[in-house]
Amino acid sequence: MALKTRTAKFDLLTDDDLTPYQAVALIERAAALKAERAAGKPHDHLLRGKTLAMIFQKPSTRTRVAFEAGVAQLGGHALYLSTNDLQLGRGETIADTGAVLSRYVDGIMARVHKHEDVVALAAAATVPVINGLSDLAHPTQGLADMLTIKEHLGGWRGHKLTYVGHANNMAHSLALAGALVGLDVCIASPAIAQPHPAIIQRAIAIGATTGATITVVDDPREGVAGADIVYTDVWVSMGQEVSPDVLAALQPFQVNDALMEYARPEALFMHCLPMYRGQEVTAEVADGPTSVIYDQAENRLHLHKALLVETMSDHVDSIFA
Ligand code: CP
Ligand code: NVA
Repeated sequence: MALKTRTAKFDLLTDDDLTPYQAVALIERAAALKAERAAGKPHDHLLRGKTLAMIFQKPSTRTRVAFEAGVAQLGGHALYLSTNDLQLGRGETIADTGAVLSRYVDGIMARVHKHEDVVALAAAATVPVINGLSDLAHPTQGLADMLTIKEHLGGWRGHKLTYVGHANNMAHSLALAGALVGLDVCIASPAIAQPHPAIIQRAIAIGATTGATITVVDDPREGVAGADIVYTDVWVSMGQEVSPDVLAALQPFQVNDALMEYARPEALFMHCLPMYRGQEVTAEVADGPTSVIYDQAENRLHLHKALLVETMSDHVDSIFA
C-alpha cells in the first residue's frame, strides 16, 4: 500500500507547531522506537541515505549526541556544524545558509541564540527545520519530557507539573507541551523573571481544548502545592546575563527538601540538564529517589528519532501527511 506523502515540510520551532493529536502521536512513535531499540530490532532503514545538518551557535551535550546517535541508529548521517565551522561565523546570512544547506541535506537542526534566527532559517530552508533550543523555547526537550512523565505516571491528565525558577525557554516549552498533551502546568517565578505573556496565552488557549490548566504564580510554595512533578532549570541560561536583582529574587525558588514538602508525596523531580547543584536545586533533591533526570536525558534520543522519522523518512505514514 502506498504511504501517505507529506503535503509540506514541517518545521518545529516551538512546541505548538504541533497539534495536540500530532504531539501525542509523536510521543507514541518515540515510545515505539524506544521499545524496538530495547528489543534489539533494527530500524536503520528509516533514514537510509538521509542527512541532517546540525547548526550549533552554543554548546551542547544531550542535544548534539542524542541527534547524532539517533540519526546513526536510523541509518542516516548527521553533520555537526558549529558557527565557527560555517561561513555564518564570518557574516553569511542565516537565509543564505538555510537555502544552500537545503540543496544538500534532508533536514536541519539548529541551536541558536535568538529565536528570530531559527524562524529566518526555516523561512529560507526548503527542508524541515528543528529548533534545538533558542532563547524562547526548547521544544525537543519539552516534548521528550512528556514521554518521561507518561512512563512514570502512566499518563498526563489530572497530573500537575510545577516549573520553579527563572521562567525561561524551558518554562515556555513545558507550558506549551503540557497544554498539548493535557498536563496541568504551573509556573512559579519571581515577579521579575516571569514567562512571556504571549506564550502563556497560547498555552492557555491550547489547554482549553485538551483539558489542561496553565497557571503562573510568584510564590514557590503556592506553585508546588499538590504537584506531581517539580521541574527546575538553570537561573542563568547560555549566552544570557542575569542581574543581581533577579538572582536575589530567585533564592527562595531553589528546589530543596523544604520546598518538596509542599508537593505530593513521591513527587518526581525533573531538570533538563545541565544543572548547578547548590543553586537552582540541592544535590539531595537532584540525586534523590524521585529524580528522573537521566530518564529525561535518555528520552531525548527517542523523541529526536521519532521527530526525524516523521519529518524525513520515506518509510512511514507521517503524522504530517
Ligand atoms: N538539555 C539539553 O538540551 O542539554 P544540552 O545543552 O547538553 O544539549
Ligand atoms: N535554559 C537553559 C537550557 C539548557 C538546555 C539554557 O538555555 O541554557
